[in-house]
Amino acid sequence: MNDIAKEGLVAVEAISAHVPFHALSHQVLADATGQDPDKFHRGLGCSRMAICHPTQDAVTMAADAGETLLERWKVDPDDIGMLIVATESGVDWAKPIAIYIHQMLGISPNCRIFDVQHACFGASAALAMSVGWIRSGMSGGKKAMVIATDIARYEVGSAGEPTQGAGAVAMVVGEGSGGVLFPDFSSQAIYARNVMDFWRPGFCNSALVNGKYSVECYLKALSETYAHYRRSGGESYRQLKYLLFHFPFTRIGWKALVMMADVEAQISGDVASEEELLGIYDEKVKPGTTGAREIGNVYCASLYLALASLLEAEKDCAAGEKIGMFSYGSGSCAEFFTAMVGSRREIWEGKIGLLGGISRRENIDYETYLDFRKHSARLYQDNSFRIGDVPLGNKLPPDAHHLFLGYRNMKRIYIPGPAMRVCLSRKIRTGALPPVE
Ligand code: HMG
Repeated sequence: MNDIAKEGLVAVEAISAHVPFHALSHQVLADATGQDPDKFHRGLGCSRMAICHPTQDAVTMAADAGETLLERWKVDPDDIGMLIVATESGVDWAKPIAIYIHQMLGISPNCRIFDVQHACFGASAALAMSVGWIRSGMSGGKKAMVIATDIARYEVGSAGEPTQGAGAVAMVVGEGSGGVLFPDFSSQAIYARNVMDFWRPGFCNSALVNGKYSVECYLKALSETYAHYRRSGGESYRQLKYLLFHFPFTRIGWKALVMMADVEAQISGDVASEEELLGIYDEKVKPGTTGAREIGNVYCASLYLALASLLEAEKDCAAGEKIGMFSYGSGSCAEFFTAMVGSRREIWEGKIGLLGGISRRENIDYETYLDFRKHSARLYQDNSFRIGDVPLGNKLPPDAHHLFLGYRNMKRIYIPGPAMRVCLSRKIRTGALPPVE
């Protein structure tokens, strides 16, 4: 085992996000469906939700996040020895999304490749696994890449519809002492329980959810994991500089903070007034909520979108500060862990791509949103397109590196997107040119 592995200095060395180009505002949704916009804006804490163009799926979003990371952080794809994609938007029962990404990013063949799935918990499982892989010395000095990618989709008109979203976050984990963040899973504050709060049978395009019960399950898992973390010597929520949660909608951050304060009162007798909690929310929770408010739920990627939001938004975020992180996956498994900020803001400035991605987007109207959904569903039928056809081509996202065209002879067909041209030479070098099947 080398020295770094012995000391346990395993870091998230790089993080980048992909934000879909199209968004539906909650005001437009409220106007079209005759609902009160205040319910969405204040009741759920949402402003806009990302909507995938039919040519964008969990594969193209993951590839775009990975592409941004490799380019902006100057990571050599040959240094990656393990690629894990965390998703609940899988496209095949057997073939993992990770193997498409492996080709699209031009990663070396000498690499472990697989997907992980446990609802929104998958990315935290993948991150913990990557940290352990490097700490064990098994990585042989190579890095792990973890990409969380998902499309949160509920039935039109359902209570879940305003909590939809889509996107991806890519991270590289390595031995770097100059890393952005040092995650610490050592308190083992994990809680697993078989519940039917949210699920998606293999034959359904949208998730099924027992909404209010799912919020109860989430808060119960938070109380169990935070209590475990505190009883094993962890700092109180007041001592942690920031608090990031899995954000299916931002308002749940307030409910989560209140739950932590209740648990804290039982454990240490420290009682917080509502006024105090409002101040704590603004200081510790709010800086991580931009992604969820502007993009919506991104299932596996949500917690890491919160991390990206915090890093991009918080001018005062400084090396050595500790972040409390709560990951919840329906079904269910949850973990409360911490991460220490490892470097100065200048290290990540301009490389994450979240706020830039949010500001470049195009707002769509309600009819276009329904059209996107209709065409996405159609692309799941075999031979549903003619070669050369791009569904809704006039609305193509200009920043897409890859486009999904549909199935041909039972194989998914991907071709280069409009943004691919700018990095064509790297694609040719890595042999990742079309079509990718
Ligand atoms: P609902 O029935 O639409 O909403 O369901 P509601 O009637 O409970 O209202 C929501 C809030 O808005 C309430 O506030 C209302 O008072 C308020 P609260 O009492 O909760 O603080 N409200 C208003 N506020 C201002 N002005 C108004 C107004 N009207 C109402 N006019 C629910 C909400 C979240 C259940 C629904 O959207 C849903 O089912 N979402 C999907 C499931 C979900 O997000 N669950 C979260 C926990 S489980 C989880 O996070 C895992 C998950 O990500 C999946 C995975 O792990 O893969 C989902």
